[in-house]
Amino acid sequence: ASTSVKLNTGADMPTVGLGTWKSAPGAVEHAVEFALKNGYKSIDTAAAYQNETEVGEGIAASGVARATIFLTTKLDNPDQKEPLAALESSLKKLGTDYLDLWLMHWPAPMTKGEPPLADKTHDWLDTWKEMEKLFQAHPDKLKAIGVSNFSVEFLERLLAVATVVPAVNQIELHPSCPQEDVVEFCTKKGIVVTAYSPLGSDNSPLLANEVVTKIAAKYNVQPANVLISLQANKPNVTVLPKSVTNTRILSNAVIIDLTEEEIAELQAIDKTHHFRACHPSWTGWGSLGFPDCQ
Ligand code: A2P
Repeated sequence: ASTSVKLNTGADMPTVGLGTWKSAPGAVEHAVEFALKNGYKSIDTAAAYQNETEVGEGIAASGVARATIFLTTKLDNPDQKEPLAALESSLKKLGTDYLDLWLMHWPAPMTKGEPPLADKTHDWLDTWKEMEKLFQAHPDKLKAIGVSNFSVEFLERLLAVATVVPAVNQIELHPSCPQEDVVEFCTKKGIVVTAYSPLGSDNSPLLANEVVTKIAAKYNVQPANVLISLQANKPNVTVLPKSVTNTRILSNAVIIDLTEEEIAELQAIDKTHHFRACHPSWTGWGSLGFPDCQ
């Protein structure tokens, strides 16, 4: 697998980056610092993860030059009406002047109250138009914009009006949630797919899956390496394994080449063991075009 994938902006996005969904303040600073000191070049966070300040602290503590890091964060659902303020807030918390990639976290504007509810007064397509304007007006602050959790149906609605094609669509991707239709569509449109939860998130049954463990034994690697490599082997895909554990942060960066046969075997796991680790827990927005995302 190559070490980076080219975005439609011309920039290179590292194939493997550190995920920080569920990485809590107190642990994430160290994880980010450790990853950067040990060769990771890409860090992914989101305003919704409530750890941007600590991710920024980890970047600063690493001493690694900002220019050599690919940094991604995401616009939170309740901030869709005021993206500029949200962007400024993320930049400030992360302690940086610019983002390599800024994503619309979900095509689902929400209210700011508790619990957040679907905000039917706002159209996420208008949010994208604002993100496009910010991208064009502030090339010093935004190197690329994209989306996250977009199904084919939502991507089609976006592309019908977009003047900037999203550089990336970040989605849940692992053998039990292969989303091959989304990967195929994005590849056709020149949109890089970033895989989150490549292991299947916390307590994933995939780590003990017999197909996964059989292939791991053959190459003398951990099951996690097989799952991360499955994504990294795809030409148009980057991958974000999450860990706050030093030994895993190190080992997760090891990519192996899988055979066509092994890839097919892994991709078939979903037929008998389908699950989604992340689905919106809010009500009011329906399935967002994902049949099993209620
Ligand atoms: P931890 O962060 O405590 O190390 P995903 O990337 O699919 O979201 O999975 C993240 C989950 O998998 C976390 O619970 C993380 O635990 C765990 N994890 C990360 N790397 C490995 C690994 N190499 N082997 C087993 N579990 C791992």
